[in-house]
Amino acid sequence: GKTTQLNFLYDSLKSIDIDVIQTREPGGSKGAEEIRNLLVEGPPERWDAVTETLLHCAARRDHIKTTILPALEKGLWVLTDRFSDSTMAYQGYGHGVNKKALQNLQQFVAGTMQPDMTIILDLPVKIGLARAEKRATQQIKNNNGQEDRYERMGADFHERLRKGFLNIAKNNRKRCIIIDTTRSVEEIQSTIQRLVFKKFGLSEDG
Ligand code: TMP
Repeated sequence: GKTTQLNFLYDSLKSIDIDVIQTREPGGSKGAEEIRNLLVEGPPERWDAVTETLLHCAARRDHIKTTILPALEKGLWVLTDRFSDSTMAYQGYGHGVNKKALQNLQQFVAGTMQPDMTIILDLPVKIGLARAEKRATQQIKNNNGQEDRYERMGADFHERLRKGFLNIAKNNRKRCIIIDTTRSVEEIQSTIQRLVFKKFGLSEDG
């Protein structure tokens, strides 16, 4: 769901002539995409939680240095599918890595850089895992590499990370909005567009 929604948002910003790039984490640069493969493939126990955290941070550092900062310096908008909140949610709330250590690492990797706005797509865990399973089956059918390492971490893990994202949103009310994604794709799309346009003072006719 989130990639589809990000594509919609990208198109709607483009349609009013905003110079914007779309990127993702883990990944978004050549080096970070290579690190991504280490993170999303293979068995859940492939990495211990700290190693996994450092790999995400290494990928983010490369993404920031080679993709995000150059774009911002040119005056472009950057839409990213995931950023540091995912490390706090997955590695912090999900795997129990020390949250203060994660904040320090974030400062080390990104300095004070933060998104102006963060959209959290919320879904009950059962529904989310069912959707992920459907996607994985499709990937096997299409012979695409299976990026299901996190989906295999179980319902308890996903309950913890949902709680994590909701807590992050509560602690960062100015920056974060939560969108209920049990609604239709079209409804979600128009809600996101309305909120983004409002936040940045945009109007639909440019
Ligand atoms: P994706 O499915 O959104 O492409 O992301 C790949 C997986 O990586 C996803 O299950 C969430 C996980 N992830 C982390 O665990 N920590 C992070 O910091 C990021 C950016 C992603």
